[in-house]
Amino acid sequence: MGFSMLIKKSADIRSSEITPKSIYLNRRTFLAAAGMAGAAGLLGASLRETIAPSMTALAGNKIDGIKKSPLSTTETITPYKDVTHYNNYYEFGTSKDEPAELAKNFRTRPWKVKIEGQVEKKQELDIDTILKMAPPEERIYRHRCVEGWSIVVPWVGFSLSELIKRVNPTSKAKFVEFTTLLDKQQMPGQQRDVLEWPYVEGLRMDEAMHPLALLCFGMYGEELPNQDGAPLRIVVPWKYGFKCAKAIVRIRFTEKQPMNTWNISAPQEYGFYANVNPNVDHPRWSQAKERRLGEFTKRPTLMFNGYDQVASLYSGMDLKKNF
Ligand code: MTE
Repeated sequence: MGFSMLIKKSADIRSSEITPKSIYLNRRTFLAAAGMAGAAGLLGASLRETIAPSMTALAGNKIDGIKKSPLSTTETITPYKDVTHYNNYYEFGTSKDEPAELAKNFRTRPWKVKIEGQVEKKQELDIDTILKMAPPEERIYRHRCVEGWSIVVPWVGFSLSELIKRVNPTSKAKFVEFTTLLDKQQMPGQQRDVLEWPYVEGLRMDEAMHPLALLCFGMYGEELPNQDGAPLRIVVPWKYGFKCAKAIVRIRFTEKQPMNTWNISAPQEYGFYANVNPNVDHPRWSQAKERRLGEFTKRPTLMFNGYDQVASLYSGMDLKKNF
């Protein structure tokens, strides 16, 4: 079983310190009004500002004090509407538009995250304690799904290493496992056995400690929308999107490599590492190219999704075997 089978079955517009989403939303409004999808470059600052105030009413919960990150790409950000209406989140349905609808009333407070396994002190952390561990940063990352589409998202969060350092893993901790909430009432997708629930993912400790690995709680200057993984997810930009577990309730440090949901579901198709790699095809399709949402022509997929700085983590490893 794999993604596609399941589906059959069933200008420098960057962030703004002031009203981030209004600007992203504003571009969409303009494009819709103009009825020309290629007009983004024509949008001048003055027009942007004219439309912006009327759009601020749509803004969700803004995150204060967001710092820009030098780790951000300068590529064009994918429109907010696409990033929030083209989701993989099987707890809320297997089609791309379902999570936006079915996750609408998902409760993200109160929310606790268990810290377990090889740590000096097992504990339960409140989400709001976690959010205060380090200043929020905007990280504009490329995000490449194993299915062949990609997006560019201004995530908000801080390096996962900030949390890991604070919970003191023991020397036996070689991997970190992330577990999504299990709640059949709130997550209707869990009433079907399309995947084994709860969703689990894992990273090797050095991957988790890499500065690019993001503990994420926001995007486009605001708290994460439910369909994108509120209140807490990870984002690992050099790996396929399925590594980025959403709605995390448990972080467990382990000696042995943990299992991950897509590997359990189809081990011949999805491995543990899941590094973006144009040279290693999926058994049922090529991974050499990708389609950026909103673009027509496919673009070449880059090794490690273009994040060459992680290459040394895998030196000496056969990435065809460790896919
Ligand atoms: N996390 C959970 N809990 N459940 C899921 O189904 N899907 C994964 C990942 N995290 C998934 C998940 C996949 S396949 C992808 S591509 C990304 O989430 C999509 O993230 P996005 O919807 O924010 O783009």
